[in-house]
Amino acid sequence: MKIFIPRDMAAVAVGADHLATAIAAEAQARNIPLTIIRNGSRGLFWLEPLIEVATAAGRIGYANLSVADVPSLFESRFFEGGPHDRCIGVVERLPYLARQTRFTFARAGVIDPVSLDDYRRHGGYRGLETALSLGPAAIVAAVKESGLRGRGGAGFPTGIKWETVARASAPRKYIVCNADEGDSGTFADRLIMEADPFMLIEGMTIAGIAVGATQGYIYLRSEYPFAIRIMNEAIAIATRAGWLGRGIAGSRFDFDLEVRVGAGAYVCGEETALLESLEGKRGQVRAKPPLPAIKGLFGQPTVINNTISLASVPFILAEGAQRYAEIGYGRSRGTMPVQLAGNIRHGGLFECAFGITLGELIEDVGGGTASGRPVRAVQAGGPLGAYFPPALFDTPYDYEAFAKRDGLIGHGGLVVFDETADMAKMARFAMEFCAHESCGKCTPCRIGAVRGVETFDKIAAGIEPEQNLALVRDLCETMKLGSLCAMGGFTPYPVLSAMNHFPEDFAAKPLPLA
Ligand code: NAI
Ligand code: SF4
Repeated sequence: MKIFIPRDMAAVAVGADHLATAIAAEAQARNIPLTIIRNGSRGLFWLEPLIEVATAAGRIGYANLSVADVPSLFESRFFEGGPHDRCIGVVERLPYLARQTRFTFARAGVIDPVSLDDYRRHGGYRGLETALSLGPAAIVAAVKESGLRGRGGAGFPTGIKWETVARASAPRKYIVCNADEGDSGTFADRLIMEADPFMLIEGMTIAGIAVGATQGYIYLRSEYPFAIRIMNEAIAIATRAGWLGRGIAGSRFDFDLEVRVGAGAYVCGEETALLESLEGKRGQVRAKPPLPAIKGLFGQPTVINNTISLASVPFILAEGAQRYAEIGYGRSRGTMPVQLAGNIRHGGLFECAFGITLGELIEDVGGGTASGRPVRAVQAGGPLGAYFPPALFDTPYDYEAFAKRDGLIGHGGLVVFDETADMAKMARFAMEFCAHESCGKCTPCRIGAVRGVETFDKIAAGIEPEQNLALVRDLCETMKLGSLCAMGGFTPYPVLSAMNHFPEDFAAKPLPLA
């Protein structure tokens, strides 16, 4: 009898480890032979801890459990899928999961993340096998044909980036995975690394073969200790099994992989600051050009991609570029793991084809706010993303459609706020965040953000509000056009969207600054 209990950070945070211990002890006391598998999460976070029991009818779920539920679970013979008031039926039939298109997250929560056999049984390494049979040029062609765009936020075509590195001639090339997932409300990178780490290893190996790189690094944020542990374990297993190292899977290609842990600066998610940090220096942004694809890590041509971009590649190789490209919207092809967070009923990961509207995601999929109050605003794309009011909920989830409305989809995060949100406070927070996280290299960001906070404080205190609001707009223009990177350049998105869509919040009133 197989019981799946997540080892995912979000599940553990709400008691999954205690639950696993209690279930194991109760099974022993009752002399019931159970096999407990610590899987990753499926990303249905509002149901965690969610345990699953393998039955002939499918995997039956029991949600929101605590240690106190354990005796009654055994009384109702949950290990055979028995009835219990926490039983939610066959997990894969839950509408939230059933309506997803899980290309990249198909195995998340299904397999044991550190079992290579489980990974292989569920289609793992088929992409790499295809890649080895195709050879470098055809791999790059397939990634280009798939239409995959960078999932870190900028949406640059992955295949073109790979082609630039493949064409560069250099003694050494690198693959760097940007796993410094710093956007508020995002967790897709973490979920990949904790639930299906071999997929990321496979994607990076394919990238190495495609461009001629023999060394890869995963730059992983220190706030993800579980992901660090699981990735390191998976790398050691893959190396022992011959899927990493010299002559991968008996081929002529070599590829080694290491995890490097960041120290927690948001700006180290910016690719050039990340490279500086990886080289052991202070995480400060480099001017571009040269692009990392030409002169990246240690001055060598480097593919630097987000975790999701790299993890999307095994599917593309295994199932064919066309299969990936045939779904989507406009120039946004394939799927996006949308991450629903903040004040939302069904917070979690929802992988779907581009084109779904923002309103469908928030109201239908997410079930509206957790507080039950009307939605006031949704911040899309992390702390540098715009606030969308419900009036813009018809916006299709698509890079270009969001840009047309002065927003960005970024790394796929959506953070929901109800009607109690004070949007003036949010605008001030964007400036404060930028002032705190600025790397200090350029003036519009380093000084501009500090002046922004001061100006918002004057507005709140009723000091020349009209002139000061005009000053904020002017400052935003300078930051947008004059900043060296997205940190200073994108801070105007949350500020201006809050001012434009919620002007009533900027009337003079005392601002609670706590
Ligand atoms: P960018 O537009 O400068 O570059 C995008 C990528 O394409 C980079 O990797 C760049 O090196 C590459 N590139 C551009 N032209 C190329 C060419 N001709 N050949 C090869 N490669 C080329 O954008 P940037 O500054 O790298 O990223 C900004 C984005 O980052 C924003 O859209 C924002 O959403 C996102 N972001 C994501 C965060 C996260 O936690 N994932 C945090 C903060 C921002
Ligand atoms: Fe550094 Fe900010 Fe300038 Fe980016 S915009 S280089 S974070 S000072």
